[in-house]
Amino acid sequence: MSDINAIGLHESSASQLAEKLNELLANYQIFYMNVRGYHWNVKGPQFFELHAKFEEFYTDLLTKVDEVAERILTLGHRPVHAYSDYTQLSRIVEEKNVHDGEACVRGVLKGYQTLIELQREILSLASDADDEGTAAQAGDYIREQEKTVWMLNAYLG
Ligand SMILES: [Fe+2]
Repeated sequence: MSDINAIGLHESSASQLAEKLNELLANYQIFYMNVRGYHWNVKGPQFFELHAKFEEFYTDLLTKVDEVAERILTLGHRPVHAYSDYTQLSRIVEEKNVHDGEACVRGVLKGYQTLIELQREILSLASDADDEGTAAQAGDYIREQEKTVWMLNAYLG
C-alpha cells in the first residue's frame, strides 16, 4: 500500500509528524546557540560554575539535535538544515550578549520550558498516529527536561 511508509506508519501522519519535528529541530538549534552564547558571555562571581553548567547543557542539546534530525529521516522525511529556516521556524528567539548570570539561567529555563511544551504537542500527535518511536523519544526528553526545570528553578530560588 503506497500510503504506508517504510516503518509501517501512514504517510499522512509521518509527514505531519516530520513537519512538527522540524519545528522542534529549529528550536533545539536556536536554543543550542543561545546556550553557547551564555557559556561564552556570562560574567560575575558564578562564572566558573555557570560556564561549566552551560557547556553541559549545550552538549546535551547538540546530541538531541542529531537524534531529532535522524528521527525525521527515519520517518522518511528531510531535516531542515539551514539557519535561515531555523530562525523562521523556532519559537525560541535568538538572544545576543547576555552577560548577567541570572538572566542567562532564566534564558535556559525559558528555553527548556518551550521545548517541553513543543514535545508534549509531538507526543500527543505521535500517540494519535500510533508512532511509538517518536512518542517514546518525546517522552524521554520531557522527563529529563522537567527535572532540569526543577533544578533551574531551585537555583533561581
Ligand atoms: Fe568552552
